[in-house]
Amino acid sequence: MEYENLIVEKKERVGIIKINRPKALNALNIDVLKDLDAAFSAMDADKDVLCIVLTGEGKAFVAGADIAQMKGLSCDEARAFAEVGQSTFRRIERLSKPVIAAVNGFALGGGLELAMACDFRLASDKAKLGQPEVTLGVIPGFGGTTRLRRSVGEGNARMLLFTGEMIGPEEAYRIGLVQKVIPADELLEEAVKMAQIIASRGPASLHLMKKLLSTNAELGLEAAATFESMAFGACFATGEAKEGMEAFLEKRPPKWGGACGCGCGS
Ligand code: CAA
Repeated sequence: MEYENLIVEKKERVGIIKINRPKALNALNIDVLKDLDAAFSAMDADKDVLCIVLTGEGKAFVAGADIAQMKGLSCDEARAFAEVGQSTFRRIERLSKPVIAAVNGFALGGGLELAMACDFRLASDKAKLGQPEVTLGVIPGFGGTTRLRRSVGEGNARMLLFTGEMIGPEEAYRIGLVQKVIPADELLEEAVKMAQIIASRGPASLHLMKKLLSTNAELGLEAAATFESMAFGACFATGEAKEGMEAFLEKRPPKWGGACGCGCGS
C-alpha cells in the first residue's frame, strides 16, 4: 500500500516506516497521523513482519505536531486533534510486535511523544530531543506528560516540560530517554540489524511480552504478577516453547511457527 506521507518497506521480517515530509521536518498533521495509523495497522496484520523500525526522512525524526495546522484550531478541534494523536500512538504502543524508534534528528513535542510510544529508542549522534510546547503556549497533547515521566522520572520530565529546552543524544542517553547512541550514518542499518535479531526470536513470546508490558504498566504488583504467571503458563501450551527448549537441548537454532506460537505458522 502507498502512503502520501510515508515510505514503507520490508527487509527480512522487519517492517520499516519512514515519515516522509522533510520540508516541514516531518511535522505531524492530521494526514500524517492517519497514514501512521493505517501503516501500523497493516504491519500488525502482516504475518511476514515480526518487528518494526520507525524513522524520519531528512534531518528530523519529527519536529512536533504541525504548528501551521494547529494555529487555527478551535478548542474543540484541538481536543479532537489530540485525541487522534493519542489513539494513533496508543495503537503503536499496543501493537502485537516490537517497534524501535530510530531517532535520526529532531524529535520534538509530538515527535518525542511518538518516539516514546515505541518500545525503545536508538538515537543518532545528531539527534535533538525535547518538549518545546511551553515555548508555543501549549502543552504536550499526544501522551507526553505521562510517557515522559515513565521514561525519565518525575524531576527530569518536569525539567524538560517546563524549560522547553532541547537536549542532545548523550544527555538523552544519560537520563534513559534513549537506549543507545549511534553515528548518524549507521543508525538505520543498526536499527534494522537489531530489529532482525528481535524478529529471529520466538514470535509468540514477543507477542505475549508486548501484551504484558503494556497492560502491566497500568496494574498493581499483585495483578501484574498474576498476569505474568498466567502468560508464562500459556507459553507452555504453544508449540513455540517446546521447539525453543528442544532446540536448545539439541544445540540447533529453533524453527518457529508463526506469531500464534502453536506451530501452525499463523
Ligand atoms: N510544524 C510545522 N512546520 C514545522 C515544524 C512544526 N512543528 N517544525 C519545523 N517546521 C517547518 C518550518 O516552519 C520550516 O518551514 P519553511 O521552510 O516553510 O519556513 C521548515 O520546517 C524547516 O524548519 P526551520 O527552518 O525552523 O529549521 P531549523 O533547522 O532552523 O530549526 C527546529 C529546526 C529547531 C526543529 C525548528 O524548526 C523548530 O523549533 N520547530 C518547532 C518545534 C516545536 O516547537 N515542536 C512542538 C510542536 S507543538 C506539539 O508537538 C504539540 C503536541 O504535543 C501535540
